[in-house]
Amino acid sequence: MTKQIQFFDTTLRDGEQTIGVNFSIDEKVAIAKQLEAWGVDVIEAGFPVASKGDFEAVQAVSRAVKQTCVTGLARARKGDIDACVKATADAAHKQVHVFIATSPIHRDSKLHMSKQQVIDTITDCVSYAHQFFDIVEFSPEDATRTEPDFLVEAINAATAAGATVINIPDTVGYTNPAEFAALFKNLRENVTNFDKYTFSVHCHDDLGMAVANSLASIENGATRIEGTINGIGERAGNAALEEVAAAMYVRKDYYDATNNINMKETKRTSDMISKFAKMPVPHNKAVVGANAFAHESGIHQDGMLKNPQTYEILTPECVGAHKTTLPLGKLSGSHAVMTKLNEMGYHVNRDDMKVIFPHFKDKADHTDIVSENDLRVIMNKFSEVSA
Ligand code: KIV
Ligand code: ZN
Repeated sequence: MTKQIQFFDTTLRDGEQTIGVNFSIDEKVAIAKQLEAWGVDVIEAGFPVASKGDFEAVQAVSRAVKQTCVTGLARARKGDIDACVKATADAAHKQVHVFIATSPIHRDSKLHMSKQQVIDTITDCVSYAHQFFDIVEFSPEDATRTEPDFLVEAINAATAAGATVINIPDTVGYTNPAEFAALFKNLRENVTNFDKYTFSVHCHDDLGMAVANSLASIENGATRIEGTINGIGERAGNAALEEVAAAMYVRKDYYDATNNINMKETKRTSDMISKFAKMPVPHNKAVVGANAFAHESGIHQDGMLKNPQTYEILTPECVGAHKTTLPLGKLSGSHAVMTKLNEMGYHVNRDDMKVIFPHFKDKADHTDIVSENDLRVIMNKFSEVSA
C-alpha cells in the first residue's frame, strides 16, 4: 500500500544552529508561511526555553500558520516543556518534541547518567508532556550510536509514557543506509506495538549521507522525515528536504510513497532561506542549484535539443525554477550554437554553421561562457565574410 510520508521541517530550529545564521522573528514568520505553502506537515519553530527571542518566535509562528502543526523543542526537563506549552498555546495544531541522549558517550560524558536514570527521566518527562499535548514526539538523541537493546528500552519507555511519535536522530551523521535498514529491522521486531506509532528520522550530513539515510528509512518503516531547506544546520547540516521531496517525486516508482509537498514552491522556498540565512546555494547543489538545469557539453546539449529526457530527470518547471539553459562554452557543439543563433533571430542553417562554428570555437577557447553579445560580434564578422 502507498505510504504517506510526513515532512517535518526544522529550518527554524536546527537550521538556525548553522554558524552565522540568526533569523529575525519577521523572517521566521515569513519562512513558516512559505513552508506551509510548500506543504510541510510539521514546523519546528524553535527551542522556546533557549531565549526570549526563541520563545517569541515560536509564539509568533504558532499564531501565523493555520494548517501546519507547530512544535517547540524541549530537553527532558519540565521547565523546557512548560516553555513549549506557553509558546505554542495559540497554535491551531501543535505537538511537543522532547529529547534526551541515549548513547553511551552522551550518557557518560555529557549527562553523567546511568541507563536507569535516562529511562526514569524519559518516563517522567514524556508523561508530564502528555498532560499538555496530544502528540508527544520523543527523540533518543544520538540514537544511531546507542546500544540496540537500550534504544528499544528507551523507546518502549517513551511510548508507555504517552509518546506517539518516535524520532531516530543520526545526531552526528555517522550511520549509512544499510545500517539504518538494520536499525529499523531491530525496532520493527522489538518495539512493543511498533505499528501503532509514527517513526521519524532526523539525519545529519557529516558524511554526506543525510538524504540517502532519510530515503533508506522510508523503505524500512519511517513515515516522517526531518530536515531543513537547503540542508542548513549544525556542522555539515541536516538532510535537505527539497532533495528528499525531489527523490520521492522522480522515483515514485521505487519508493511507493506520497507526501503533501507542493513541488512548484520548492525553488521559492530555497531562495527565501538562502536570502534570510545569507547563505548562497552552491551552483552544483541538487534540485535548486543554479547549474541543476544547465547543460554545457556538446553531446549533452545535442541530446537535450533532441529530447530533454536524455539528460534531465526533473524539469525546472516542476520545482518552480526558470528553465533549462544550454550555456555555450568550449565544449558546446554546432547544434546548440545554431539553435541559439536562430532563437536570437538569425536564420542560420547547417551549411552556414560550417563557417560560423570555427569563429565560435575560437572565442570559446578564450572565455568561460560565450555570451549573446559575443555571438553578435561573430555574426557581424560572418555577414562581412558572406557579403
Ligand atoms: O540532531 C539531533 O539529535 C537533534 C535532536 C534534538 C533531535 O537535533
Ligand atoms: Zn539535529
